[in-house]
Amino acid sequence: MRHFHSLKVSSVRQETTDCVSIAFEVPADLKSTFDFKQGQYLTLRKEINGEDVRRSYSICSGRQDGELRVAIKQVEGGRFSTFANADLKAGDELEVMPPMGNFFVELDATKKRNHVAFLAGSGITPAMSLMKTTLNEEPESTFTLFYSNRTSSEIIFKTELEDLKDRFMNRLRVFHILTREPNDIPLFTGRIDAEKCHGLSKSFLDLPSCDAFFICGPEPMIHAVKDQLKLDGVNEDKVHFELFTSPLVGALKETVKKEVKEEDKGKAAAVEIVLDGNRMVFDLAYDGENVLDAALKKGADLPFACKGGVCCTCRALLVEGEVDMDVNYSLEPDEVERGFILTCQAHPRTEKIVVDFDQQ
Ligand code: FES
Repeated sequence: MRHFHSLKVSSVRQETTDCVSIAFEVPADLKSTFDFKQGQYLTLRKEINGEDVRRSYSICSGRQDGELRVAIKQVEGGRFSTFANADLKAGDELEVMPPMGNFFVELDATKKRNHVAFLAGSGITPAMSLMKTTLNEEPESTFTLFYSNRTSSEIIFKTELEDLKDRFMNRLRVFHILTREPNDIPLFTGRIDAEKCHGLSKSFLDLPSCDAFFICGPEPMIHAVKDQLKLDGVNEDKVHFELFTSPLVGALKETVKKEVKEEDKGKAAAVEIVLDGNRMVFDLAYDGENVLDAALKKGADLPFACKGGVCCTCRALLVEGEVDMDVNYSLEPDEVERGFILTCQAHPRTEKIVVDFDQQ
């Protein structure tokens, strides 16, 4: 179940001048609850200056590492990231929700596959988990990483990446692309955009023999790489991406708010929320706030973090009725098909909707 658990921080490690990684002590009775898949994330909660602040951070440890660790890069004006980078220390306790997320492929030790990642900045965090776990669990597979940063001093996990390259010499390739440091090879300078993606793929990959692509970074980069891979003949099923929350998300949320049809204006729906087997019912206008906010106001203790359609923490199954979602950056097509919705983005479009948080 998606409930917060209080976990003790076992170590805080400075990764770069503006990024720390923190590991948690997981008590024996919570080991299975906090068992994770490579590429998943944790939602953390802390009361900061009297405010309930929640943020999701990707796990950077591999499944074999024997620890649960996330990386937190300082974001300008970011309340949680500032707290984590400035004040958090070993021995402190944080509220932590069990691992979530779909940014992975199921691994199979008998398969010989080629995995590829295009990353920018802190997008390396889930990729560390993906890469370490894949190289360990698929002993014949390869991993190629294209990793963009402004300068070499901003490369997170630089030493660990070097160590991994030494350890998996024939199966791991890491290419650094720097936007503010010139390089004799033009391909390694500048942003990862469509052209760069095409150039890198052409020079270092045999695209038809690549089995999985992981893209993690800001939204424009994700779209550029995704679209270019498609143009270069890569099947969309092979492409996985993880959007990191950016101010853009808030802006988009405003501009893409779903319109209510003329004939539905003024209508309200009976909303039934199921959580931990308990039911709550309330009325909600079609053009009112989203299902999550409305239920929170009624006192429901629902899981959420970004409220921007990015983290998927507020996911629930729509058992009855229909909704419109403003944006969806995180549900996979098959989840939408099965009826899952992001409650922070959902508005009712039928006179009754039933939303079940207990279905996984
Ligand atoms: S709370 Fe993050 S997607 Fe809804």
